[in-house]
Amino acid sequence: MIRFAARSCVVGTTLGRVSPLALGLPARRRAFLRPSPVHLLAWALLIGVTLPCGSGCRRSQPAANPAKPAGAQGESASSSDQGAAATDSAKGTASEPGVAAPAEEQPAAEKVAATGSQLFSRHCGSCHGERGDGKGIAAAYLFPKPRDFRTGRFRLTSTTNSVPTREDLHAVLLRGMPGSSMPSWAHLSQAERDLLVDEVQRIRSEGIRESYLAQLKEEEELTDEEIAADEVQQAIEEHVKTATTPGENSAVPEMAAASPESIERGKGWYAKFVCISCHGETGKGDGAERMFDDDKTPTRPRDFTLGIFKGNPDPASLYRRISLGMPGTPMPGSSNMTPEQMVDLVHYIRSLSTEEQRQAAVLKREKIVAQRVGAVPGIDQAEAWSQAKAVQVRTTPLWWRPGAAAEVTVQAVHDGQTLAVRLSWADATGDEHALRSESFEDAVAMELYQGEAEPFLGMGSMASPVDVWFWDADRQHGEIAAEKINPNAVADVYPFSEKGVAGTELSRPGARMADQPDISLPARATGNQIVPRSEGSGGSSLQVGGPRTVTFRIPKSQLVVAQGEWKDGRWTVVMTRPLAVPSAEEGLSLEPGGRASVALAVWDGAHADRDGQKSITIWQDLELER
Ligand code: HEC
Ligand code: HEC
Repeated sequence: MIRFAARSCVVGTTLGRVSPLALGLPARRRAFLRPSPVHLLAWALLIGVTLPCGSGCRRSQPAANPAKPAGAQGESASSSDQGAAATDSAKGTASEPGVAAPAEEQPAAEKVAATGSQLFSRHCGSCHGERGDGKGIAAAYLFPKPRDFRTGRFRLTSTTNSVPTREDLHAVLLRGMPGSSMPSWAHLSQAERDLLVDEVQRIRSEGIRESYLAQLKEEEELTDEEIAADEVQQAIEEHVKTATTPGENSAVPEMAAASPESIERGKGWYAKFVCISCHGETGKGDGAERMFDDDKTPTRPRDFTLGIFKGNPDPASLYRRISLGMPGTPMPGSSNMTPEQMVDLVHYIRSLSTEEQRQAAVLKREKIVAQRVGAVPGIDQAEAWSQAKAVQVRTTPLWWRPGAAAEVTVQAVHDGQTLAVRLSWADATGDEHALRSESFEDAVAMELYQGEAEPFLGMGSMASPVDVWFWDADRQHGEIAAEKINPNAVADVYPFSEKGVAGTELSRPGARMADQPDISLPARATGNQIVPRSEGSGGSSLQVGGPRTVTFRIPKSQLVVAQGEWKDGRWTVVMTRPLAVPSAEEGLSLEPGGRASVALAVWDGAHADRDGQKSITIWQDLELER
């Protein structure tokens, strides 16, 4: 029927990895979609976790944690020295669970264990899988793939047997793994991270026990009775213990500050010890062609010039990466180098990026304050906007690519009635239309949540629904943008119209979509809320309550107005909405002096971003001045 409609079917399968339409929209609605940027709507992807116990979970936790202020933790995230810390007593931080508790505190210990798995389910399960097997509901949209805690190997270890210490796991939770979608969890309390570390270790032990049992059954052909025998059970326990007990900490020598001589020598070792064959002559990771991790997923050597390191880039941690390698990846450990040579290599590799780049690579939680102003400025009032405090928020692509949008600049103001948020980010091309199946548009979304049990940042959950404000470039041009761009684009047949045309009659009067009665455009005729309302606003309001529930609000509840402008390699988008809304149908009600958690997502059409293929931030704090 409508020629462009075909694209809704092909969209997203282009690269064979995503079937986005399946995500956000019920099948029956798909048939009515208008031709253009439908694929984007399902802001879909990172899907929320349904939390078994709802918002009560957090409250039921032990009040263990008069947590450090978020800022202080953020700092410790960036300066935490995984390498050096590993030599400190790891047990020091293992405050609650491992340490023997007085008898009367035993019940508390049980409560703690339950809470650990709930925290895992809420924050980690969507990616790592509820069972920790790396097969979370969002995993299909992620590259690199989330770790399988049951059988996979840990990359960032400090021990001679590659089993991570608690400290190693804590360091990962604080920093995340820049260069992948693994976010930082520095905003959680130390006690919560402790519980999560316990949970990862518990899952690990369970996974190892499970594989060993399978091995005993399949390879040794033991029967269930034989396995139940005491000595076999004991052997199993021993196996699990050996496989989960961290070995010795690998030694890291005292390191002097980098000197030009050391860096120069390092450059020599870089070629001599064949780092160059994988990481490339310039250190941009362009040496080797194809390489794969243990689990057969493709990987690339690190580009050292971006300053993006999965592990901590401080000298001691980098030293360990070089001496121990990254288990499960092609990155080898170096047994044939002297400590002095490795120190030189550390200095050389660090010399290829700046401290600023390395710090910026970590996803951080920032505070965005919506300042109170006399009147909310429009997108064209640059002068007024220049008065509003700008906060840089780091993004990471879920499907990793080195050049993806790295930062969104966020400004917010309100006048007591209306909130305006100005988002701006670098994008070399303004992709304003998604007219052909191979073209995708630019877009941005802001997800808001208010409440105690901040859900998984991708789409919330049934218990903790989120409100999403969405702007997409194509929508802003109104519903017949297609014809303005491609004046000869017409449908082959409008079945309900007397003005049906054949492809050869492009210029015949009345052939345009705009000339057709509504009934020829089923989406418009049925009042589908996805059809753009009018020109000028590219804004939409969506409600989401977890997996596959991304829904455009009905037209009368669409209160988000947004406008974007692409200029000199940068998008600037201003979204506005009344602070207070009549009911939950319209979204989250805000008020002067109030707050909300917000997270952002950015799509780069030129890189075929759509749906779950996008760059995201972690949760941020939005505070509204009184
Ligand atoms: C958005 C998806 C996502 C979420 C949410 C997430 N992770 Fe990850 N995580 C990943 C990915 C992807 C990797 C693998 C990165 C790589 O190897 O490059 C990873 C790796 C890890 C590792 C392995 C570290 C190593 O040394 O190899 C640990 C431990 C981990 N995550 C713990 C957690 C915990 C605990 C949570 C919840 C608090 C969590 N993750 C939430 C995506 C996620
Ligand atoms: C066989 C190919 C190969 C060789 C040889 C190799 N690397 Fe790597 N290296 C990799 C890959 C692949 C990664 C990325 C692993 C990942 O992201 O999971 C990596 C990652 C790294 C990292 C990043 C650590 C982090 O925290 O992200 C450093 C540092 C590094 N390599 C240093 C070296 C040095 C120094 C040498 C030479 C002594 C070397 N590599 C040799 C393949 C190689």
